Amino acid sequence: MRNILILGAHGQIARVATDLFLEQTDLELTLFLRRAERLHRYRGHDRVLLVEGDVLDREALLSAMVGQEVVYANLAGDLGTQARTIVETMNQIGLKRLVFVSSMGIYDEVPGQRFHAALRPYREAADVIEASDLDYTILRPAWLNNREEIDYGTTPKGEPFANPDGVVSRKSVADLVVRLATTPGLHLRESLGVHKPG
Ligand SMILES: NC(=O)c1ccc[n+]([C@@H]2O[C@H](COP(=O)([O-])OP(=O)(O)OC[C@H]3O[C@@H](n4cnc5c(N)ncnc54)[C@H](OP(=O)(O)O)[C@@H]3O)[C@@H](O)[C@H]2O)c1
Repeated sequence: MRNILILGAHGQIARVATDLFLEQTDLELTLFLRRAERLHRYRGHDRVLLVEGDVLDREALLSAMVGQEVVYANLAGDLGTQARTIVETMNQIGLKRLVFVSSMGIYDEVPGQRFHAALRPYREAADVIEASDLDYTILRPAWLNNREEIDYGTTPKGEPFANPDGVVSRKSVADLVVRLATTPGLHLRESLGVHKPG
């Protein structure tokens, strides 16, 4: 595994994951984001390529995908359309491995909480990805904080979300992203809840 494309690279989890990738792996990173000057600190880094772009711009996305092995999407907003664009572009170029950050609650899997409208784009994205032939892993984090800790558990799709009132660190989600990107075959075609152990 040599190259990873990080979409939405200025996102909070993505920035933590970028530093973990640089510290713990020898992967070459392509950081794809709007207003790339926000990550100017990586300019000139020998393992980082900065690409300015919007994931809804298919041409920009396609050219960023050339030569990649893994796509890690850390996005927000119209996630359904974003997921559709990513899946179609990956299919076009023959790229298989996708790690996509969604949210807890999309399957109404959280004890004591009902599915609500804000989750719709997250669910739509998951539906699009699960209907694809990609080697995907969807992550459904609990509420997030910025603690400097790695402490998390996972639950598969179909099981109730564990400790839904707990707050998991972005660094924990980033750690899982790094493991998924660097471990062939890990959690392929799975959707994982990511929780803080209670
Ligand atoms: N807050 C929580 O407790 C919680 C819990 C579970 C899940 N989540 C979800 O998990 C996801 C990742 O979390 P996070 O904290 O890393 O989120 P975040 O900081 O909001 O990052 C999302 C990134 O997506 C980028 N983006 C949105 N539309 C884009 C487009 N069309 N093209 C390129 N980039 C685009 C944004 O770019 P710009 O910077 O250019 O706007 C932003 O940097 C989010 O969807 C979040 O809502 C959050």
